[in-house]
Amino acid sequence: MSSYLYRDVNKVTTNILQRMHDEDEKIAMLTAYDYSTAKLLDMAGIDVILVGDSAANVMAGYKTTLPITLNEMIYHASSVVRAVERALVVVDLPFGTYQGNSKEALNSAVRIMKESGADAVKLEGGVEVSESIDRILSAGIPVMGHLGLMPQSINKFGTYAVRAKDDKEADKILKDVQILEKHGCFAVVLEKIPALLAKTITESVAIPTIGIGAGPHVSGQVLVFHDMVGVTQQFSPRFLRRYHNLSEEIISAVSNYIDDVKRADFPNDKESY
Ligand code: KIV
Repeated sequence: MSSYLYRDVNKVTTNILQRMHDEDEKIAMLTAYDYSTAKLLDMAGIDVILVGDSAANVMAGYKTTLPITLNEMIYHASSVVRAVERALVVVDLPFGTYQGNSKEALNSAVRIMKESGADAVKLEGGVEVSESIDRILSAGIPVMGHLGLMPQSINKFGTYAVRAKDDKEADKILKDVQILEKHGCFAVVLEKIPALLAKTITESVAIPTIGIGAGPHVSGQVLVFHDMVGVTQQFSPRFLRRYHNLSEEIISAVSNYIDDVKRADFPNDKESY
């Protein structure tokens, strides 16, 4: 069977992702937070675009993902949605907009769907958020889960190190993924857990698992776009494969521009009216 079976579909849906998983076609997912980047990712054929709350770090320069607001996520999401034709667009529910109670979770998810036009929402957590998942799904909104390293809980974890190194946490994550599946999540992100655990989890559920630092035995992979093209420089975890060194190219282009302006070489006659 060839890979890329679903390259030609006009619009990726949650059903298509399930079919990719069932037919062993890996799912490719990247983050985007703005129109121009989302357009390029969609043209390249990415399956899923995540409007991640990592926008708090990458776009706004915060140290954690906690400060980003629902309004800010809706702004990023609607910019992405305007650019995308094929990819499934999933939007993170930001910290503090779904943990309080399931009604608040539903209201936040409805605002994202109504005001941005996205296809689905993502939230972090297992059994603790299962009631919220039920309520969001009852409104017809698809939900993606997120377990393992959950950046919104960084103050509880105290570190961004690999999770589930002990059996107790590994067992909880396995059970939580099964709970998310039972409650109707269409997929789950597994962040920074041992590859063997991700394999066991993936084999124990029918829904797709999307890994970031979770090894190869998952249904798909996700990376933060700015990390994989090397716009961000400081962040170099072991799981990150850099496909480009855009920061060097941008700095070089900008310093050439500065030189041209200072030497009065730009604009020349052809570039003037
Ligand atoms: O916000 C984000 O970018 C994410 C990915 C790291 C999975 O949640």
